[in-house]
Amino acid sequence: MVTGWPNMWSSTDNAFYFIIVVSAILFLGITGTLIYFVNRFSFHKNPEPKNISGNTFLEIAWTVIPTLLVLAMFWAGWKGFIYKRTVPKDAIPINVTARQWSWSFEYENGKTASTLEIPFGKPVKLNITSVDVVHSLFIPAFRVKEDAVPGRKTYLWFKPEKIGTFDLFCTEYCGVQHAKMITKVNVVPHDEFLSWLNLKEVRAETVPGEILAREKGCLSCHSTDGTESVGPTFKGLFGRSKNNINVDENFIRKKIFEGSPPIMPSLKDIVNDEEAGKIIEYIKTLK
Ligand code: CUA
Repeated sequence: MVTGWPNMWSSTDNAFYFIIVVSAILFLGITGTLIYFVNRFSFHKNPEPKNISGNTFLEIAWTVIPTLLVLAMFWAGWKGFIYKRTVPKDAIPINVTARQWSWSFEYENGKTASTLEIPFGKPVKLNITSVDVVHSLFIPAFRVKEDAVPGRKTYLWFKPEKIGTFDLFCTEYCGVQHAKMITKVNVVPHDEFLSWLNLKEVRAETVPGEILAREKGCLSCHSTDGTESVGPTFKGLFGRSKNNINVDENFIRKKIFEGSPPIMPSLKDIVNDEEAGKIIEYIKTLK
């Protein structure tokens, strides 16, 4: 078991600072020596050239010292790497699905959310995948980052040691709305987390269309206030007709299940018929 560096911050930051300090010392040392040599061995001071035939002590020193330094850097990184890949047994599992261009989080009891809600002081394990292209989950505050790869499960874990709200980014360029693929991590006290987790009203059967539209990622590309985004705004969309296309229930249903290549992916794997109906009802209300 790894001891000494007790959390995600220090396992990353210690390696980072160690390498920075070594690099700074080398930079100053090499530059200083260079300047000294330019003066000391200048033509002005040495009009007659001298033949130098090697120095065994120097040869050994400049082989051994850098080797030790590089090994020490490796050790610093390796120690943190092992810590980050060793998931504690009591970690709370959360399934994370990435898609263009949103995140969804699913808890053991089936509850889903579009922000990552986690309890303070408890380790969590994120099991990550993607339904379309490669994304990457990045929470700078916890020094964790892991790719979301279609058809594959990746993971990361961390233990939040601060209460508050933190940024969660996509850090792999994944299409036009990559920069908007951001959400929040909310670290709350454990009892608050439990009561949130067991709140039933956000279950898929009962959620209103607006929450569904947000959770399924519709609102990442379609605004609800008339603002133009990747896709057409939902405001005033229903009932509109343009170029012989009537935006009715069938039209929206078709878009949801078949997508709108090349921009909008099909949502048939993540939206069922009933949910599509609720999303359409919601769009109807946005006049
Ligand atoms: Cu998903 Cu960038």
